[in-house]
Amino acid sequence: MEIMGRGLSQIVQETPQYFHLLSKYAGWKLFKRRSPIFGSADIINECNLHCEHCYWWLNRKENEELTLEEWKQVIDEKFKKRHVFAVTVVGGEPMMRPDVVELFAKEFPKRSCIVTNGNYPLKKFKGLYFYWVSIDGDQKIHDTIRGDGTWAKTRKNVIDYVENNGDKAYKDIWISMTINSRNYKTVRKVIEDWREYTNKIGVQFHTPFMKGDPLWLPFGEERDAVVDELIDLQKTQYRDYISNPKNQLELMKKNWGGKGTTPIDCPTWAIVSVDHLGREKRPCCIGSAEKDSMKPRCEECGLGCYSIFVGSGIKGC
Ligand SMILES: C[S@@+](CC[C@H](N)C(=O)[O-])C[C@H]1O[C@@H](n2cnc3c(N)ncnc32)[C@H](O)[C@@H]1O
Ligand code: SF4
Ligand code: SF4
Repeated sequence: MEIMGRGLSQIVQETPQYFHLLSKYAGWKLFKRRSPIFGSADIINECNLHCEHCYWWLNRKENEELTLEEWKQVIDEKFKKRHVFAVTVVGGEPMMRPDVVELFAKEFPKRSCIVTNGNYPLKKFKGLYFYWVSIDGDQKIHDTIRGDGTWAKTRKNVIDYVENNGDKAYKDIWISMTINSRNYKTVRKVIEDWREYTNKIGVQFHTPFMKGDPLWLPFGEERDAVVDELIDLQKTQYRDYISNPKNQLELMKKNWGGKGTTPIDCPTWAIVSVDHLGREKRPCCIGSAEKDSMKPRCEECGLGCYSIFVGSGIKGC
């Protein structure tokens, strides 16, 4: 028996985690108690790419990295003490710190995933739940956003992983597409390109940090059409492949998050996000721990990890 890639013994081992998850949900429903459910960690302050759409470079400052021992302390303090259920490992590019990825996979077995640009070979980490591999369009458009040759490198690394790690290895790879004004016409092509080698795709929309950001796909007809196409593809050919729930996709047609740069309906409390020094970021995982940092525009937000909560009725910053 397997549920969401978990065997029976894994599920039994995780019973205390399900208890905490349930009590967090009940605490919020009954008393509006806000206790983080998920975590995210920028494990590194470096990246091998400089993608055009990337929020991370906007607030990046040159400074040091944490040691493995310091990350263990952050894990205990920020995530374990608060009984966070699962953690997403981000960056920068997390594959440049395989030691820290390994630590998260060990500390959160089957409850940690990595978001990667896929330009480094994908290693089989014991205990890792899965990889989110970022793909931002067909080959041509992806390369205009992420740099020449990046699509082909990612393609090779994904196929190598799937071919070298057994029959079920494709289950470890999920595609993450951030839809913007340049790539929105390629959503179907991205699905067709990657379906054979990967388990699922999750989409979100580009979130701007300044008014008039040309990569933001404005609310209106064209954006609605992308969402409707995704819902239709999910209903017909790709029921098990497109991972976003329908109600979340519908939210993406309009403002679901806040006003200006202030979150309102967005449940920022549900995910505790730390930067490369283990400091908590505000208002959310694409924000910053620094006071005078640039802020994301909540009223134009398209992030998947928070809207999925709103779609299931969990709200309030
Ligand atoms: C900052 S990257 C870090 C992980 C890794 N380097 C990668 O590219 O997958 C995490 C994810 O955020 C997405 N992203 C970057 N800038 C964004 C923005 N302004 N709005 C929404 N998503 C964004 C990326 O496409 C990527 O999927
Ligand atoms: S690879 Fe990831 S962190 Fe690096 S610039 Fe691109 S989106 Fe940002
Ligand atoms: S995730 Fe929430 S806090 Fe972050 S930009 Fe979006 S609406 Fe604002």
